[in-house]
Amino acid sequence: GAVEVATVIDTASPGVVIDRNIYGQFAEHLGRGIYEGIWVGPDSPIPNIRGYRTDVVNALKRLHVPVVRWPGGCFSEVYDWRDGIGPRDKRPVRTRMNWDDVTDSNQFGTHEFLDFAELIGADAYVSGNVGSMTPRDMQLWLEYMTADNGSTLAQERRRNGRDRPWTIRYFGIGNETWGCGGNMRPDYAADVNARYSAFVKAPKAMKMVRVASGASVQGGGDYLAFTEAMMAHRGETEALSFHYYAMPMGRPKGEALGFAEAEWADVLDLARAMEPMLVKVGGIMDRHDPQKSIPLFVDEWGSWYKLDRQALPGEHHFQQNSLRDAMVTALTLNIFHRHTDRVKMANIAQMVNVLQAMILTDGADMVLTPTYHVFDLYQRFAGAVPLPARTTTPDYAMAGRSMPMVDVSAARGADGRLHLALVNVDPHRPARVVTNLVGRAEGLLLTAATMDAHNSVAAPTAVAPRPVSVTRVGGRIAADLPPMAVAVLTVEID
Ligand code: AHR
Repeated sequence: GAVEVATVIDTASPGVVIDRNIYGQFAEHLGRGIYEGIWVGPDSPIPNIRGYRTDVVNALKRLHVPVVRWPGGCFSEVYDWRDGIGPRDKRPVRTRMNWDDVTDSNQFGTHEFLDFAELIGADAYVSGNVGSMTPRDMQLWLEYMTADNGSTLAQERRRNGRDRPWTIRYFGIGNETWGCGGNMRPDYAADVNARYSAFVKAPKAMKMVRVASGASVQGGGDYLAFTEAMMAHRGETEALSFHYYAMPMGRPKGEALGFAEAEWADVLDLARAMEPMLVKVGGIMDRHDPQKSIPLFVDEWGSWYKLDRQALPGEHHFQQNSLRDAMVTALTLNIFHRHTDRVKMANIAQMVNVLQAMILTDGADMVLTPTYHVFDLYQRFAGAVPLPARTTTPDYAMAGRSMPMVDVSAARGADGRLHLALVNVDPHRPARVVTNLVGRAEGLLLTAATMDAHNSVAAPTAVAPRPVSVTRVGGRIAADLPPMAVAVLTVEID
Protein backbone atom coordinates (compact mmCIF):
# COMPACT_ATOMS: atom_id res chain seq x y z
CA GLY A 1 0.00 0.00 0.00
CA ALA A 2 0.90 3.63 -0.40
CA VAL A 3 2.39 5.64 2.43
CA GLU A 4 -0.21 8.19 3.57
CA VAL A 5 1.15 11.73 3.78
CA ALA A 6 -0.96 14.61 5.09
CA THR A 7 -0.49 18.16 3.90
CA VAL A 8 -2.34 21.14 5.34
CA ILE A 9 -2.40 24.20 3.11
CA ASP A 10 -2.83 27.43 5.03
CA THR A 11 -4.94 29.47 2.62
CA ALA A 12 -5.14 32.36 5.11
CA SER A 13 -1.40 33.14 5.13
CA PRO A 14 -0.33 34.25 1.65
CA GLY A 15 3.36 35.00 1.13
CA VAL A 16 5.17 37.28 -1.31
CA VAL A 17 4.24 36.63 -4.94
CA ILE A 18 6.37 34.09 -6.88
CA ASP A 19 8.34 36.15 -9.39
CA ARG A 20 8.06 34.54 -12.82
CA ASN A 21 11.78 35.18 -13.26
CA ILE A 22 12.64 32.28 -10.94
CA TYR A 23 11.90 30.09 -13.98
CA GLY A 24 14.67 31.87 -15.92
CA GLN A 25 17.44 30.24 -17.90
CA PHE A 26 21.12 30.65 -18.67
CA ALA A 27 22.75 30.23 -22.12
CA GLU A 28 26.54 30.38 -22.24
CA HIS A 29 29.06 30.02 -25.05
CA LEU A 30 30.07 26.60 -23.78
CA GLY A 31 30.04 23.21 -25.47
CA ARG A 32 27.12 23.06 -27.93
CA GLY A 33 24.97 25.41 -25.86
CA ILE A 34 24.78 28.24 -28.37
CA TYR A 35 26.13 26.81 -31.63
CA GLU A 36 23.94 23.90 -32.76
CA GLY A 37 21.81 24.24 -29.60
CA ILE A 38 20.26 27.59 -30.51
CA TRP A 39 22.08 28.96 -33.54
CA VAL A 40 22.67 27.01 -36.76
CA GLY A 41 22.86 30.00 -39.08
CA PRO A 42 20.42 30.97 -41.83
CA ASP A 43 22.05 28.69 -44.42
CA SER A 44 21.81 25.51 -42.34
CA PRO A 45 19.85 22.50 -43.63
CA ILE A 46 18.40 22.31 -40.10
CA PRO A 47 15.07 24.19 -40.22
CA ASN A 48 15.61 27.64 -38.75
CA ILE A 49 14.13 31.08 -38.27
CA ARG A 50 16.78 33.56 -39.42
CA GLY A 51 19.47 31.21 -38.08
CA TYR A 52 17.77 30.06 -34.84
CA ARG A 53 16.70 26.45 -34.93
CA THR A 54 12.93 26.30 -35.29
CA ASP A 55 12.39 23.26 -33.05
CA VAL A 56 14.28 24.80 -30.11
CA VAL A 57 12.61 28.21 -30.51
CA ASN A 58 9.16 26.63 -30.54
CA ALA A 59 9.92 24.46 -27.51
CA LEU A 60 11.18 27.50 -25.58
CA LYS A 61 8.15 29.56 -26.61
CA ARG A 62 5.89 26.91 -25.12
CA LEU A 63 7.71 27.38 -21.79
CA HIS A 64 7.26 31.18 -21.80
CA VAL A 65 10.87 31.64 -20.66
CA PRO A 66 10.83 34.87 -18.65
CA VAL A 67 14.52 35.80 -18.81
CA VAL A 68 17.76 34.51 -20.37
CA ARG A 69 21.25 35.23 -19.07
CA TRP A 70 24.04 35.45 -21.68
CA PRO A 71 26.95 35.18 -22.75
CA GLY A 72 28.27 33.55 -19.54
CA GLY A 73 29.27 32.47 -16.97
CA CYS A 74 33.00 32.47 -17.11
CA PHE A 75 32.79 33.13 -20.86
CA SER A 76 31.44 36.63 -20.21
CA GLU A 77 34.72 37.48 -18.48
CA VAL A 78 36.77 36.82 -21.62
CA TYR A 79 34.19 38.18 -24.04
CA ASP A 80 34.74 41.35 -26.04
CA TRP A 81 31.35 42.50 -27.33
CA ARG A 82 32.97 44.16 -30.35
CA ASP A 83 33.91 40.70 -31.69
CA GLY A 84 30.23 39.86 -32.09
CA ILE A 85 28.82 42.80 -34.06
CA GLY A 86 28.88 43.75 -37.73
CA PRO A 87 28.82 41.51 -40.82
CA ARG A 88 29.17 37.90 -39.70
CA ASP A 89 31.76 37.01 -42.31
CA LYS A 90 34.06 39.71 -40.94
CA ARG A 91 33.91 38.70 -37.28
CA PRO A 92 37.07 37.38 -35.65
CA VAL A 93 37.45 33.79 -34.49
CA ARG A 94 38.67 33.62 -30.90
CA THR A 95 39.79 30.86 -28.59
CA ARG A 96 37.34 30.33 -25.78
CA MET A 97 39.72 30.96 -22.94
CA ASN A 98 37.55 29.23 -20.37
CA TRP A 99 36.64 25.58 -20.28
CA ASP A 100 37.29 24.63 -23.87
CA ASP A 101 40.39 24.89 -25.95
CA VAL A 102 38.06 25.40 -28.88
CA THR A 103 37.31 28.45 -30.95
CA ASP A 104 34.24 30.67 -31.02
CA SER A 105 33.23 32.00 -34.42
CA ASN A 106 31.39 34.99 -32.94
CA GLN A 107 28.53 34.31 -35.36
CA PHE A 108 26.25 34.63 -32.36
CA GLY A 109 26.79 38.07 -30.85
CA THR A 110 24.85 40.96 -29.40
CA HIS A 111 22.29 41.21 -32.22
CA GLU A 112 21.80 37.47 -32.45
CA PHE A 113 21.27 37.15 -28.69
CA LEU A 114 18.97 40.11 -28.21
CA ASP A 115 16.88 39.20 -31.26
CA PHE A 116 16.67 35.63 -29.94
CA ALA A 117 15.44 36.87 -26.55
CA GLU A 118 12.77 38.92 -28.34
CA LEU A 119 11.85 35.97 -30.55
CA ILE A 120 11.13 33.70 -27.58
CA GLY A 121 9.57 36.57 -25.60
CA ALA A 122 12.17 36.59 -22.80
CA ASP A 123 13.82 39.52 -21.05
CA ALA A 124 17.54 39.93 -21.68
CA TYR A 125 20.05 39.54 -18.87
CA VAL A 126 23.44 40.53 -20.29
CA SER A 127 26.45 39.55 -18.25
CA GLY A 128 29.29 42.07 -18.46
CA ASN A 129 33.06 41.60 -18.46
CA VAL A 130 34.73 43.19 -15.45
CA GLY A 131 37.64 40.78 -15.25
CA SER A 132 39.35 41.71 -18.49
CA MET A 133 37.63 44.85 -19.81
CA THR A 134 37.20 48.37 -18.49
CA PRO A 135 34.12 50.12 -17.13
CA ARG A 136 34.20 52.27 -20.25
CA ASP A 137 34.04 49.19 -22.51
CA MET A 138 30.94 48.05 -20.64
CA GLN A 139 29.38 51.49 -20.75
CA LEU A 140 29.97 51.67 -24.51
CA TRP A 141 28.38 48.24 -24.97
CA LEU A 142 25.32 49.48 -23.11
CA GLU A 143 25.25 52.61 -25.22
CA TYR A 144 25.43 50.47 -28.36
CA MET A 145 22.48 48.37 -27.21
CA THR A 146 20.26 50.99 -25.63
CA ALA A 147 20.92 54.51 -27.01
CA ASP A 148 18.03 56.04 -28.96
CA ASN A 149 19.89 59.17 -29.98
CA GLY A 150 22.32 60.16 -32.69
CA SER A 151 25.43 58.81 -30.98
CA THR A 152 28.02 57.14 -33.16
CA LEU A 153 27.38 53.80 -31.44
CA ALA A 154 23.62 54.04 -31.94
CA GLN A 155 24.27 54.78 -35.61
CA GLU A 156 26.60 51.80 -35.84
CA ARG A 157 23.89 49.59 -34.36
CA ARG A 158 21.43 50.91 -36.93
CA ARG A 159 23.87 50.21 -39.73
CA ASN A 160 24.22 46.68 -38.34
CA GLY A 161 20.51 46.14 -38.77
CA ARG A 162 18.79 47.25 -35.58
CA ASP A 163 17.04 50.57 -35.64
CA ARG A 164 15.25 50.67 -32.28
CA PRO A 165 17.29 50.17 -29.12
CA TRP A 166 16.81 46.90 -27.30
CA THR A 167 15.55 46.83 -23.77
CA ILE A 168 18.19 45.51 -21.39
CA ARG A 169 16.37 44.64 -18.16
CA TYR A 170 19.36 43.19 -16.31
CA PHE A 171 23.10 43.75 -16.58
CA GLY A 172 25.51 41.56 -14.62
CA ILE A 173 28.60 43.23 -13.24
CA GLY A 174 30.93 40.33 -13.77
CA ASN A 175 30.64 36.63 -13.05
CA GLU A 176 32.22 34.74 -10.17
CA THR A 177 34.63 37.60 -9.53
CA TRP A 178 36.16 35.45 -6.77
CA GLY A 179 37.28 32.98 -9.47
CA CYS A 180 37.13 33.03 -13.28
CA GLY A 181 36.05 36.69 -13.11
CA GLY A 182 39.37 37.85 -11.70
CA ASN A 183 40.37 35.87 -8.57
CA MET A 184 39.37 38.80 -6.38
CA ARG A 185 39.25 38.88 -2.61
CA PRO A 186 35.89 39.89 -1.11
CA ASP A 187 36.60 43.56 -0.33
CA TYR A 188 38.36 44.09 -3.64
CA ALA A 189 35.49 42.44 -5.53
CA ALA A 190 33.09 44.78 -3.74
CA ASP A 191 35.21 47.80 -4.70
CA VAL A 192 35.36 46.69 -8.32
CA ASN A 193 31.60 46.14 -8.38
CA ALA A 194 30.95 49.56 -6.86
CA ARG A 195 33.27 51.18 -9.35
CA TYR A 196 31.69 49.54 -12.43
CA SER A 197 28.22 50.30 -11.13
CA ALA A 198 29.06 54.00 -11.44
CA PHE A 199 29.58 53.64 -15.18
CA VAL A 200 27.29 50.90 -16.47
CA LYS A 201 24.18 52.87 -17.31
CA ALA A 202 21.21 52.58 -19.62
CA PRO A 203 18.54 55.25 -20.24
CA LYS A 204 16.70 55.74 -16.93
CA ALA A 205 13.31 54.84 -18.39
CA MET A 206 14.66 51.33 -19.04
CA LYS A 207 14.97 50.77 -15.27
CA MET A 208 17.89 48.43 -15.89
CA VAL A 209 18.89 46.41 -12.83
CA ARG A 210 22.63 46.16 -12.25
CA VAL A 211 23.46 42.81 -10.70
CA ALA A 212 26.46 42.50 -8.39
CA SER A 213 28.24 39.19 -8.86
CA GLY A 214 27.92 37.38 -5.57
CA ALA A 215 29.14 34.35 -3.74
CA SER A 216 29.23 30.67 -4.49
CA VAL A 217 29.59 27.81 -2.08
CA GLN A 218 31.73 25.99 -4.61
CA GLY A 219 34.65 28.40 -4.86
CA GLY A 220 35.88 31.73 -3.62
CA GLY A 221 36.42 30.84 0.02
CA ASP A 222 33.85 31.72 2.64
CA TYR A 223 30.59 32.46 0.79
CA LEU A 224 29.13 34.28 3.76
CA ALA A 225 32.13 36.62 4.05
CA PHE A 226 31.85 37.31 0.33
CA THR A 227 28.13 38.08 0.63
CA GLU A 228 28.88 40.33 3.61
CA ALA A 229 31.47 42.31 1.65
CA MET A 230 29.23 42.72 -1.41
CA MET A 231 26.31 43.92 0.70
CA ALA A 232 28.40 46.26 2.86
CA HIS A 233 29.71 48.16 -0.16
CA ARG A 234 27.47 47.63 -3.16
CA GLY A 235 27.76 50.95 -4.95
CA GLU A 236 24.77 51.54 -7.21
CA THR A 237 23.91 47.88 -7.82
CA GLU A 238 20.30 46.90 -7.43
CA ALA A 239 20.57 43.10 -7.06
CA LEU A 240 23.00 40.46 -5.83
CA SER A 241 23.64 37.06 -7.38
CA PHE A 242 24.39 33.66 -5.87
CA HIS A 243 25.52 30.40 -7.47
CA TYR A 244 24.96 26.89 -6.23
CA TYR A 245 25.21 23.58 -8.06
CA ALA A 246 23.98 20.17 -6.89
CA MET A 247 27.51 18.87 -7.21
CA PRO A 248 29.73 17.14 -4.66
CA MET A 249 32.59 19.16 -3.18
CA GLY A 250 35.94 17.64 -2.29
CA ARG A 251 34.97 14.30 -3.82
CA PRO A 252 34.46 13.11 -7.39
CA LYS A 253 31.35 13.99 -9.36
CA GLY A 254 28.91 11.17 -10.17
CA GLU A 255 27.59 9.75 -13.41
CA ALA A 256 24.59 11.28 -15.18
CA LEU A 257 23.17 7.80 -15.91
CA GLY A 258 23.67 4.28 -14.60
CA PHE A 259 24.12 5.38 -10.99
CA ALA A 260 23.33 3.48 -7.79
CA GLU A 261 20.57 4.50 -5.39
CA ALA A 262 23.16 6.03 -3.04
CA GLU A 263 23.90 8.59 -5.76
CA TRP A 264 20.22 9.26 -6.32
CA ALA A 265 19.93 10.17 -2.64
CA ASP A 266 23.23 12.07 -2.68
CA VAL A 267 22.26 14.36 -5.56
CA LEU A 268 18.80 15.08 -4.12
CA ASP A 269 20.43 15.82 -0.78
CA LEU A 270 22.86 18.20 -2.53
CA ALA A 271 19.94 19.96 -4.23
CA ARG A 272 18.13 20.35 -0.92
CA ALA A 273 21.28 21.81 0.65
CA MET A 274 20.66 25.07 -1.19
CA GLU A 275 17.87 26.04 1.19
CA PRO A 276 19.91 26.56 4.39
CA MET A 277 22.45 28.50 2.30
CA LEU A 278 19.75 30.82 1.01
CA VAL A 279 18.60 31.34 4.59
CA LYS A 280 22.12 32.33 5.67
CA VAL A 281 22.72 34.58 2.66
CA GLY A 282 19.28 36.12 3.21
CA GLY A 283 20.13 36.75 6.86
CA ILE A 284 23.20 38.77 5.88
CA MET A 285 21.17 40.67 3.29
CA ASP A 286 18.47 41.40 5.89
CA ARG A 287 21.02 43.08 8.15
CA HIS A 288 22.18 45.41 5.37
CA ASP A 289 18.84 45.78 3.64
CA PRO A 290 15.99 45.25 6.11
CA GLN A 291 13.50 46.70 3.59
CA LYS A 292 14.40 43.82 1.24
CA SER A 293 14.87 46.19 -1.66
CA ILE A 294 17.86 44.24 -3.04
CA PRO A 295 16.71 40.97 -4.61
CA LEU A 296 18.82 37.83 -4.69
CA PHE A 297 19.23 36.23 -8.12
CA VAL A 298 20.31 32.58 -8.08
CA ASP A 299 21.62 33.05 -11.59
CA GLU A 300 23.32 29.65 -11.85
CA TRP A 301 21.97 26.43 -10.39
CA GLY A 302 21.46 22.79 -11.36
CA SER A 303 23.03 19.35 -11.31
CA TRP A 304 26.61 18.86 -12.44
CA TYR A 305 27.92 15.40 -13.29
CA LYS A 306 31.08 13.85 -14.66
CA LEU A 307 31.81 14.73 -18.26
CA ASP A 308 29.96 12.26 -20.46
CA ARG A 309 32.41 9.57 -21.55
CA GLN A 310 31.08 9.79 -25.11
CA ALA A 311 31.57 13.55 -25.26
CA LEU A 312 33.58 14.89 -28.16
CA PRO A 313 36.14 17.68 -27.83
CA GLY A 314 34.21 20.92 -27.56
CA GLU A 315 31.24 19.13 -26.01
CA HIS A 316 32.16 20.35 -22.57
CA HIS A 317 29.50 20.04 -19.95
CA PHE A 318 27.13 17.98 -22.05
CA GLN A 319 25.26 15.65 -19.73
CA GLN A 320 22.22 13.46 -20.10
CA ASN A 321 19.21 14.46 -18.05
CA SER A 322 17.17 11.89 -16.20
CA LEU A 323 14.22 11.54 -13.88
CA ARG A 324 16.66 12.40 -11.07
CA ASP A 325 17.12 15.83 -12.66
CA ALA A 326 13.35 16.29 -12.71
CA MET A 327 13.49 15.76 -8.94
CA VAL A 328 16.35 18.26 -8.57
CA THR A 329 14.29 20.79 -10.51
CA ALA A 330 11.11 20.34 -8.51
CA LEU A 331 12.87 20.35 -5.13
CA THR A 332 14.81 23.49 -6.11
CA LEU A 333 11.81 25.38 -7.48
CA ASN A 334 9.92 24.49 -4.29
CA ILE A 335 12.81 26.01 -2.31
CA PHE A 336 12.54 29.21 -4.35
CA HIS A 337 8.77 29.25 -3.69
CA ARG A 338 9.57 29.28 0.04
CA HIS A 339 11.94 32.27 -0.24
CA THR A 340 10.06 34.66 -2.47
CA ASP A 341 10.73 37.59 -0.16
CA ARG A 342 14.32 37.64 -1.41
CA VAL A 343 14.72 35.29 -4.39
CA LYS A 344 13.34 37.16 -7.40
CA MET A 345 15.22 35.47 -10.21
CA ALA A 346 16.94 32.17 -10.90
CA ASN A 347 18.61 30.87 -14.04
CA ILE A 348 19.05 27.16 -14.49
CA ALA A 349 22.41 26.12 -15.94
CA GLN A 350 21.76 25.74 -18.77
CA MET A 351 19.27 26.11 -21.61
CA VAL A 352 20.48 23.64 -24.29
CA ASN A 353 23.12 20.86 -24.36
CA VAL A 354 25.05 22.10 -21.30
CA LEU A 355 24.82 20.79 -17.71
CA GLN A 356 21.21 20.42 -16.51
CA ALA A 357 19.71 21.25 -19.87
CA MET A 358 16.10 21.83 -20.76
CA ILE A 359 16.74 20.66 -24.29
CA LEU A 360 19.29 18.36 -25.95
CA THR A 361 20.06 18.40 -29.65
CA ASP A 362 21.81 15.90 -31.85
CA GLY A 363 22.29 17.27 -35.34
CA ALA A 364 18.81 17.95 -36.68
CA ASP A 365 17.10 16.11 -33.79
CA MET A 366 15.86 17.63 -30.56
CA VAL A 367 14.88 16.03 -27.26
CA LEU A 368 12.96 17.63 -24.41
CA THR A 369 14.43 16.55 -21.08
CA PRO A 370 12.62 15.64 -17.86
CA THR A 371 13.84 19.03 -16.58
CA TYR A 372 11.98 20.73 -19.44
CA HIS A 373 8.79 18.94 -18.45
CA VAL A 374 9.04 20.08 -14.83
CA PHE A 375 9.49 23.70 -15.96
CA ASP A 376 6.45 23.22 -18.17
CA LEU A 377 4.36 21.78 -15.33
CA TYR A 378 5.41 24.60 -13.01
CA GLN A 379 4.29 27.37 -15.38
CA ARG A 380 1.09 27.60 -13.35
CA PHE A 381 3.10 28.91 -10.37
CA ALA A 382 4.47 32.00 -12.14
CA GLY A 383 2.97 35.08 -10.51
CA ALA A 384 1.03 33.01 -7.96
CA VAL A 385 1.07 33.72 -4.23
CA PRO A 386 2.72 31.00 -2.15
CA LEU A 387 0.80 29.46 0.74
CA PRO A 388 2.44 27.62 3.63
CA ALA A 389 2.11 23.82 3.46
CA ARG A 390 2.53 21.83 6.67
CA THR A 391 3.34 18.30 5.58
CA THR A 392 3.51 15.24 7.80
CA THR A 393 5.67 12.74 5.97
CA PRO A 394 8.07 9.95 6.82
CA ASP A 395 11.65 10.36 5.71
CA TYR A 396 13.34 8.71 2.80
CA ALA A 397 16.76 7.48 3.99
CA MET A 398 19.56 5.95 1.97
CA ALA A 399 23.31 5.58 2.44
CA GLY A 400 23.54 8.16 5.22
CA ARG A 401 21.25 10.68 3.51
CA SER A 402 17.83 11.43 4.91
CA MET A 403 15.10 13.77 3.70
CA PRO A 404 11.32 14.11 3.81
CA MET A 405 9.79 11.55 1.47
CA VAL A 406 7.28 14.06 0.11
CA ASP A 407 7.93 17.75 -0.49
CA VAL A 408 4.97 20.07 -1.07
CA SER A 409 4.65 23.58 -2.43
CA ALA A 410 1.32 25.41 -2.70
CA ALA A 411 0.24 28.72 -4.21
CA ARG A 412 -2.86 30.65 -5.22
CA GLY A 413 -3.05 31.89 -8.81
CA ALA A 414 -4.47 35.25 -9.83
CA ASP A 415 -7.73 33.51 -10.82
CA GLY A 416 -8.18 32.13 -7.30
CA ARG A 417 -7.32 28.53 -8.13
CA LEU A 418 -4.82 26.70 -5.93
CA HIS A 419 -1.78 24.97 -7.36
CA LEU A 420 0.12 22.21 -5.59
CA ALA A 421 3.50 20.71 -6.46
CA LEU A 422 4.10 17.32 -4.88
CA VAL A 423 7.43 15.52 -5.04
CA ASN A 424 7.87 11.92 -3.91
CA VAL A 425 11.62 11.31 -3.79
CA ASP A 426 11.36 7.68 -2.64
CA PRO A 427 12.33 5.25 -5.42
CA HIS A 428 10.37 2.37 -3.85
CA ARG A 429 7.30 3.55 -1.98
CA PRO A 430 4.20 5.14 -3.53
CA ALA A 431 2.57 7.97 -1.56
CA ARG A 432 -1.02 9.04 -1.16
CA VAL A 433 -0.92 12.77 -0.38
CA VAL A 434 -4.08 13.83 1.44
CA THR A 435 -4.79 17.57 1.51
CA ASN A 436 -7.17 19.66 3.61
CA LEU A 437 -8.82 20.98 0.43
CA VAL A 438 -12.34 20.33 -0.83
CA GLY A 439 -13.22 20.93 -4.47
CA ARG A 440 -12.27 19.72 -7.92
CA ALA A 441 -8.69 18.93 -8.93
CA GLU A 442 -6.79 17.89 -12.01
CA GLY A 443 -3.12 17.64 -12.72
CA LEU A 444 -0.15 16.05 -14.37
CA LEU A 445 2.59 13.76 -13.21
CA LEU A 446 6.11 12.92 -14.28
CA THR A 447 7.53 9.55 -13.35
CA ALA A 448 9.25 6.46 -14.80
CA ALA A 449 10.21 2.94 -13.82
CA THR A 450 13.92 3.58 -13.30
CA MET A 451 15.90 6.27 -11.49
CA ASP A 452 17.89 7.23 -14.57
CA ALA A 453 15.03 7.08 -17.10
CA HIS A 454 15.67 9.72 -19.73
CA ASN A 455 14.61 10.90 -23.15
CA SER A 456 16.66 10.34 -26.26
CA VAL A 457 16.24 10.65 -30.01
CA ALA A 458 15.30 6.96 -30.08
CA ALA A 459 12.83 7.30 -27.18
CA PRO A 460 11.88 10.97 -26.89
CA THR A 461 8.89 10.46 -24.58
CA ALA A 462 10.25 7.89 -22.14
CA VAL A 463 9.73 10.52 -19.41
CA ALA A 464 6.70 12.64 -20.28
CA PRO A 465 3.77 14.08 -18.32
CA ARG A 466 0.59 12.12 -17.88
CA PRO A 467 -2.56 12.73 -15.82
CA VAL A 468 -2.24 12.32 -12.07
CA SER A 469 -4.75 10.14 -10.26
CA VAL A 470 -6.86 12.27 -7.94
CA THR A 471 -9.08 10.72 -5.29
CA ARG A 472 -10.98 11.76 -2.14
CA VAL A 473 -10.21 10.83 1.46
CA GLY A 474 -12.98 11.90 3.86
CA GLY A 475 -14.18 14.32 1.15
CA ARG A 476 -10.76 15.96 0.88
CA ILE A 477 -8.64 15.94 -2.24
CA ALA A 478 -5.83 13.39 -2.35
CA ALA A 479 -3.31 12.53 -5.05
CA ASP A 480 -1.69 9.18 -5.67
CA LEU A 481 2.00 9.47 -6.42
CA PRO A 482 4.01 6.51 -7.66
CA PRO A 483 7.59 6.21 -6.39
CA MET A 484 9.93 8.84 -7.90
CA ALA A 485 7.29 11.29 -9.07
CA VAL A 486 6.67 14.99 -9.49
CA ALA A 487 3.02 15.99 -9.69
CA VAL A 488 1.26 19.32 -10.07
CA LEU A 489 -2.40 19.72 -9.18
CA THR A 490 -4.73 22.60 -9.81
CA VAL A 491 -7.65 22.82 -7.41
CA GLU A 492 -10.91 24.74 -7.77
CA ILE A 493 -12.03 25.19 -4.20
CA ASP A 494 -15.75 24.66 -3.54
O1 AHR B 1 27.70 27.02 -15.90
C1 AHR B 1 29.04 26.65 -16.09
C2 AHR B 1 30.01 27.53 -15.32
O2 AHR B 1 29.84 27.34 -13.96
C3 AHR B 1 29.89 29.01 -15.51
O3 AHR B 1 30.57 29.47 -16.62
C4 AHR B 1 30.52 29.55 -14.27
O4 AHR B 1 29.99 30.80 -13.91
C5 AHR B 1 30.28 28.48 -13.23
O5 AHR B 1 31.42 28.19 -12.53
